[in-house]
Amino acid sequence: MNILILGSGGREHALAWAVMQNPKCDRLIVAPGNAGIASVAECAALDIMNPDAVVDFAQNHSVDFVIVGPEDPLAAGVADALRAAGILCFGPSAAAARLEASKSFTKEICDAANAPTAGYAHFTDLDAAKAYVEEQGAPIVIKADGLAAGKGVVVAMDIATALDALDDMLVGAFGDAGAEVVIEEFMEGEEASYFVLSDGKTVLPIGTAQDHKRAFDGDEGPNTGGMGAYSPAPVLSDEIAAKAIAKIVQPTIDEMARRGTPYQGVLYAGFMIKDGQPRLVEYNCRFGDPECQVLMMRLGAQALDLMLACAEERLAEAKVNWADDHAITVVMASNGYPGAYEKGSVIGGLDELPEDSSNMVFHAGTKAKGEQITAVGGRVLSVTARGASLAEARKRAYAMVERIDWPEGFNRTDIGWRAL
Ligand code: AMP
Ligand code: GLY
Repeated sequence: MNILILGSGGREHALAWAVMQNPKCDRLIVAPGNAGIASVAECAALDIMNPDAVVDFAQNHSVDFVIVGPEDPLAAGVADALRAAGILCFGPSAAAARLEASKSFTKEICDAANAPTAGYAHFTDLDAAKAYVEEQGAPIVIKADGLAAGKGVVVAMDIATALDALDDMLVGAFGDAGAEVVIEEFMEGEEASYFVLSDGKTVLPIGTAQDHKRAFDGDEGPNTGGMGAYSPAPVLSDEIAAKAIAKIVQPTIDEMARRGTPYQGVLYAGFMIKDGQPRLVEYNCRFGDPECQVLMMRLGAQALDLMLACAEERLAEAKVNWADDHAITVVMASNGYPGAYEKGSVIGGLDELPEDSSNMVFHAGTKAKGEQITAVGGRVLSVTARGASLAEARKRAYAMVERIDWPEGFNRTDIGWRAL
C-alpha cells in the first residue's frame, strides 16, 4: 500500500522507519520530512496545515493510508477532510483533537467521565483569575487554554509567578477577547506517559514512557519539548496502568463516543502518580516527540499493523507482540536551545553509526547540504537504542552520542536516571 506520513520531526522519522520495515508498505512519502527521513522514504513539499491540499496530494499520489504526526494539522481538520474524501487516516477529527487543543474541554470531559484529575477553575477575566489565585495560594498551575506548542503551562511555586503568568496569558486590559486560562491544583507525584490506540470504542495500550523536559542534567534549566525518553516507565506498573485505563482512559473514550465525536488515533495520556493512584495531567492527540522514538524502536514493523487496525476500527481483534525489552533516546540539541540558536553547523560522524533494530539516529532538525548533514532546528537528533535492560539500551545510545562530532550541539548525560 502507498502510505503518507505528515510531519518533519524525530517522531516522523521513527514512524517512517517502523512503517518501512513492514512488507505491507509499497511506497512511503513523508511530507515535508527532513534529511534523515530522506534516507528511508521519499520526502515531498506540502502544506500539511491545509486540509484540501493534503487531500489533493493523497489523491494525486494514490495514497491508501495517511498517518498524521503533529497536533496542528489535526486541530485544523486534516483527518476530517481525508475521511470525507474516503481516504484511510490515522489521527483524530478536529472535534476529538480538542482533548489536546483545549485544556478546559479536557477538564469538562474528565468531569463528565468522573476521571481523577487536578481540581480546577477557568477564567477569561484577569481580576477574577487573580482573586482566585490569591485565595488558593501557591504552588498552583496556570494553563493557557489553546495549543501553545508546549509553552502554555506555568507551574508557579509562588503567588507572584502565578500572577505574572496570568498577566501574560490574559494580557490585561488589552485582552485578547478569546483568551482563557485554566487554573489547576498543583499535583505532587511522579509523572509518566501512557500511549494507547483507540478506534472510537476499543482501547489498546501500546507502551509507557517517561521523558525529561528540562534542558540540563539533574532536571535543571528551562523547559523544552523533551531532551530524552525511555520506555517502559517502571512507575506505571501493570496495576497502576490498569487503573489508569479503567478510571481515566476508557471513560474518556466512552464519553467522546457518547457525544458523537469518537476519538480515533493515538491518545497520549500524561499521569501524575502518587500513593499508587494515577491522576490525569493532560491528553495529547498524537505521539510524543521524543517518546515516539522509543515506542517505535520497541514495536518495529507491527506499528503499521496496529495503526491500520486503529484506523479501520478493528482494534478489538488487534494484539501487541511484546518483546521484554527497553528503549531509550537521547536528544541532541543546538547550543542555546530552547532559546535562540544558530543554524547551519555541520554534524559529523553519522555515516559510521550502526543502523539496525537496536540502534538508530532519528533526525529532527536537519538539512542536507551536498554530502553534509547540517543542523537547522532546536532539537536536531534523537539517538535511540534498544536493549534487554534499560542500562544496556542506555549504554548503546550514549556510545553513539560519543561518536557524533557536533561541537555546536549539546545533550543531557543522565537520561533514564530515575529508572536506573
Ligand atoms: P502539560 O502541558 O499540561 O503537560 O503541562 C506541562 C507540565 O507541567 C506537565 O508535564 C507537568 O510536569 C506540569 N503540570 C501540569 N499540570 C500540573 C499539575 N496540575 N500539577 C503539577 N504539575 C503539573
Ligand atoms: N515530549 C512531549 C511532547 O511530545 O509533548
